[in-house]
Amino acid sequence: MKTEKHINVAIDGPAGAGKSTIAKAVAKQLEYIYVDTGALYRSIALNAINSGTNTDNEAEINELLNNTKVEIKFINGEQRVFLNSQDVSDKIRTTEVSMMASKVSAIATVRDFLLELQRGLARENNVIMDGRDIGTVVLPQAQVKIFLTASAQCRAKRRYKDYLAAGNTQESYEQILADIQQRDYNDSHRAVAPLKPAEDSVVVDTSDDT
Ligand code: DC
Repeated sequence: MKTEKHINVAIDGPAGAGKSTIAKAVAKQLEYIYVDTGALYRSIALNAINSGTNTDNEAEINELLNNTKVEIKFINGEQRVFLNSQDVSDKIRTTEVSMMASKVSAIATVRDFLLELQRGLARENNVIMDGRDIGTVVLPQAQVKIFLTASAQCRAKRRYKDYLAAGNTQESYEQILADIQQRDYNDSHRAVAPLKPAEDSVVVDTSDDT
């Protein structure tokens, strides 16, 4: 019998810690697949916004999930996420979707809905997967677990600079900081799979790094 074991690297941490930047670079160097799990929650959030779902109502959430198909494809080595067969990779990057993703990701049925998709990718490939609960819940057997973090002020400052560099002057530093703090609170205080370092993770705080 052929047994093939793939290497799984988990990178967890709060919004704006630089997880995707570092994970992309390492994945390229190691020729692993980079899986951005936040994009999955964002796709469900986009569907909730578009359908006007009341996310406080369990029946409406169940109906939303019954009408949601999320797929990940790798095109030229880059992850694209498809919601009901439509590529939504770019549409999910708004502040509105970020906030809704933080909200829907606290719902247990939403998390269960995405679990097997994430685990399947890790079973079939060498992956670097980033998120909030990869080392604790999705891939507790991952060979490498990193918890990447930085102070909220520092993360907001970096994001603000990125926005300015991209010509986006709509959002103030104060607004970005407030959004980050709100998401940190939501993500780490929810009952299911809260954001926290796995016991066997290496915690890396980049606050003082360039
Ligand atoms: O990483 P991101 O900012 O794209 O994630 C968007 C939201 O999705 C985040 O606020 C919390 C949620 N999320 C999660 O609960 N678990 C994950 N593994 C990834 C993201």
